[in-house]
Amino acid sequence: MKILFAASEIYPLIKTGGLADVAGALPVALRKKGHDVKLIMPAYQGILEKVAPIQKSINLGNPFGVGDLLLLETHIPENDTPIWLLQCQALYEREDGPYVDKNGIDFPDNHLRFAALSWATATLALHGELMDWQADVLHLNDWQTGFAAAYLESWKTAHIPIVTTVHNLRYNGSFDMDQFADTLLSPELLSMHGMEFYGRFSGLKAGLVYADAITTVSPTYAQEILTPEYGDGLDGTLRAMTEKLSGILNGVDYEQWSPEIDSLIPHKYNLETLSQKCENKLALLQENGLSEDLSKPVFGVVSRLTEQKGLDLVLNVMPALLEKGARLVVLGSGDKDLESGYLTLQKSYPDQVSVRIGYFEDYSHRLQAGIDALLIPSRFEPCGLTQLYALKYGTLPVVRQTGGLADTVFEEGKKPNGYVFKEADTADLSAAMERCMDDFYDGTRWQERQMNAMQYDHSWEAVTDQWINLYQSLLNK
Ligand code: ADP
Ligand code: GLC
Repeated sequence: MKILFAASEIYPLIKTGGLADVAGALPVALRKKGHDVKLIMPAYQGILEKVAPIQKSINLGNPFGVGDLLLLETHIPENDTPIWLLQCQALYEREDGPYVDKNGIDFPDNHLRFAALSWATATLALHGELMDWQADVLHLNDWQTGFAAAYLESWKTAHIPIVTTVHNLRYNGSFDMDQFADTLLSPELLSMHGMEFYGRFSGLKAGLVYADAITTVSPTYAQEILTPEYGDGLDGTLRAMTEKLSGILNGVDYEQWSPEIDSLIPHKYNLETLSQKCENKLALLQENGLSEDLSKPVFGVVSRLTEQKGLDLVLNVMPALLEKGARLVVLGSGDKDLESGYLTLQKSYPDQVSVRIGYFEDYSHRLQAGIDALLIPSRFEPCGLTQLYALKYGTLPVVRQTGGLADTVFEEGKKPNGYVFKEADTADLSAAMERCMDDFYDGTRWQERQMNAMQYDHSWEAVTDQWINLYQSLLNK
């Protein structure tokens, strides 16, 4: 099968969150099973230095009047995956991240930046002759590429099956109606059954209504988003199309995330050499100048600091647990109030709390290997990848029972591998962390969970068959 896979971030080229991990790994796994995948993403500033030399380029013209759109064909050196980079200096070459400026404010022309990416994606999906490669299936991800489904709808030409994956419904890519004309899309699409969204237009809604299949990144989230509580205003739309909605859990790239082979951690280990994990704990404590007592637990956080992740709750419960000897190591960035909340906590407990604000891929590996338990008290979590990485490192996740966290972390049952609480409040989180600490001090119960955690296998290998079946079912229609 030929699959065109469109995303706004792809690891290892650029990453702000889990979407990049997925877009960097699923295509590789599909290729390993013999499928022909091409990625498409903008040529953000600095990307060309990270890819192989350009093999071919074509000019797609200047439809939006902001400069020519050039399509560059190359591949990702780390895994050989073919990628098309959409180059347009005015739209993509900026010093900041892919979506926001250095103050964390969305770029004012994001509608145009991602409409252009989507337009190019739709054009290539339809016109195989441009690059001598005709896709059988188009796979879109989140709002940034959702507009592609709208272009294909408005061009009313031969149909190519479209799958839209929702990684996060909260980011619906909606914009003021007075910006709609910039997209060059037909106003016919602006009905409530189309891409109109509460008086605005939405890239995600376009991706949903004009897709042949919608997936989310866990079965539980696929159910949750049908309710007003989790539906972010799109639950009604989704309830009307449940027959095309399903949940497929994300996998883990164990070549990147296995303590046995991870060259980014100081001491490699596996199930048989689990005692080496303590060496990583010691190294992490030393690196951060924290108290080196190995007999007490170290909690950790690796996360975007946003309302979604519930990390305000951790700030509330932490002082009581720190008084009992726990320590906390945080890596994250985002919401300024949360950032300063954590920095204040660090000031109050300099021997027990370490906070690093920013985005550091290498450090996230040392952190996962060095902490005892990872805190993920999310208010909602479409899938969540950090708990899956933690499991492999024998680091026990403490999670709220929602979305992909509910599907992958179990406190009860045959193979308990972490700690799970129900309500997004401090009482429930604090009780779960207390249970976690009790087991840690017990030792035997802790090790049992660690064994279960490290044996929990969730590789892309297994997940990929579900994707292939889905694509195939659309082709057979
Ligand atoms: P989300 O996509 O909602 O942010 P996920 O758990 O799916 O959540 O994925 C987050 C990804 O980003 C993981 O690979 C995690 O290790 C990484 N990550 C998050 N924050 C940071 C950070 N500050 N530094 C390094 N990696 C981070
Ligand atoms: C989103 C979600 C996260 C998910 C990731 C990859 O960013 O917030 O839960 O794991 O996408 O699908």
